Amino acid sequence: MMLEFLLSINFLGHFLIASVIALLIFKNFCNLYSAETSEPILPTAKRQQKENERQRPQSLYRNIDTNFRCIEVYFATEYGNTKKLCEKLVEYFTTTKSIDSVLIDLSNIEPEDVLHSKNAQRKCLSLFVLPTVTDGQPPKAAKWFCKWLSDAATDFRIDKQSQAHVSYAVFGLGNSVYAENFNIVAKEVDENLAQLGACRVCKLTLGDEDTSESQNGGLEADFDAWTKVIENVVWSQCTPPYEVLDTRANEVETSSEEEDVVDIEDLVKPKSKRTNSKSEGAKEMITPQLRGVLTKQGYKLIGFHSGVKLCRWTKSMMRGRGGCYKHTFYGIESHRCMETTPSLACANKCVFCWRHHSNPVGTEWKWKMDDANTILRGALENHYNMIKEFKGVPGVLPEKFAEALAVKHCALSLVGEPIMYPEINKFCRLLHEEGISTFLVTNAQFPEAIRAMDPVTQLYVSVDASTKESLKKIDRPLFKDFWERFIDSLKALSEKTVQP
Ligand SMILES: Cc1cc2nc3c(=O)[nH]c(=O)nc-3n(C[C@H](O)[C@H](O)[C@H](O)COP(=O)(O)O)c2cc1C
Ligand code: SF4
Repeated sequence: MMLEFLLSINFLGHFLIASVIALLIFKNFCNLYSAETSEPILPTAKRQQKENERQRPQSLYRNIDTNFRCIEVYFATEYGNTKKLCEKLVEYFTTTKSIDSVLIDLSNIEPEDVLHSKNAQRKCLSLFVLPTVTDGQPPKAAKWFCKWLSDAATDFRIDKQSQAHVSYAVFGLGNSVYAENFNIVAKEVDENLAQLGACRVCKLTLGDEDTSESQNGGLEADFDAWTKVIENVVWSQCTPPYEVLDTRANEVETSSEEEDVVDIEDLVKPKSKRTNSKSEGAKEMITPQLRGVLTKQGYKLIGFHSGVKLCRWTKSMMRGRGGCYKHTFYGIESHRCMETTPSLACANKCVFCWRHHSNPVGTEWKWKMDDANTILRGALENHYNMIKEFKGVPGVLPEKFAEALAVKHCALSLVGEPIMYPEINKFCRLLHEEGISTFLVTNAQFPEAIRAMDPVTQLYVSVDASTKESLKKIDRPLFKDFWERFIDSLKALSEKTVQP
């Protein structure tokens, strides 16, 4: 068994502070420098742009420093309508308005490239024109982009301001006869971009093929009306005009008193109905509310207390791209790795945890329990179903897709505390019997459980702080003797031996 743990080192702290100061100085220097340089303008467009500036109303002209310098039109099509409309739009802005405009088929690009493109940084306006097709799905060409975006918007590890440099508008093509599926793709893309901090320059516009319902009498007329709106936006600056509603905020606020940690199940019941769980016997760990929140965030829940989710590196490697650090250090195949947890609950309420308003907590197992075999079967079935969604998606390599349908590694690190699950040894043993290696991460609050752990492929202990005070502030542990448990966990780890 290979053992690993992370330590905070004073030297590292000083190094980081020095790096941040150096970066700030460098950033200020860059800002000063870029303030004095002007954006390149295409020679052919220059004369016409001057003419446009002359004709613009004075009130808008004052915003010239914040005008968009170019337009990128991202589109995908199944039956050809979207492409035709987008070509018309690009032609209009390029020739009539002399704005550097480019048409980009979403099937030809990587999502990361769209949203981190230099053009977005240099004040390009990003327009997304997307139809909804069969069963409320995006066209095949946009499947990867839409999935990537929705995963990113709900992934707690991704900074919710990561797309703050992007200014965007979305137009949807749809037909209102499809009722609840009407333009669902455009709605989701618009919402997910906002969730990632991108700046929405104008309201989401939904084109309707149904001429009796369409605001302007048909899809093309809706699109033309939107083009006019965009034309005005191009001369204005980007300030988010619409409040972003966090539709995921179904979580229940817990008490702010650190000592008064109450289980989420108790919080969602009216006070008079709260009961002592022990007197009632085993409870369910996942309430209907929590189930709804986790499902929306892309988790596949198994039984009473387990979950599985597709890791971004698994998806990346299916496309022949990079794997995670375990690939770099230990050669694991990220596209054949399953990320799961047999316990969504834990004994901390870490400040950095995306679930700290909603995670079930406890100092011991007190919930209804599934047996290890049920969890393993459920995890594999759900994992493979998620992998199968990538069949035929542009960019996914057929040989990697086929390999991904045979899991070789299991990361027991998704969320929660896997070591709390009473049958954790059996669960790991079953994984080994399937030829699957195990990577288990524990949060250093259960030293006896660490001692009782049978060998796994790699055992990790998270070290989130280096002093008692900072650990209390950061992990907000439930245990009063959390520091002793933490130290004892490291001791338990050091007692383990590395096996060949
Ligand atoms: C088979 C089929 C299924 C469709 N399903 C939906 C739908 O679920 N929701 C919706 O709003 N529009 C739906 N539409 C309408 C399309 O969004 C509309 O025809 C659009 O213009 C197609 O764009 P495209 O030609 O660029 O692929 C559907 C159209 C077809 C032909
Ligand atoms: S240990 Fe993990 S799951 Fe538990 S609160 Fe901390 S980050 Fe969240």
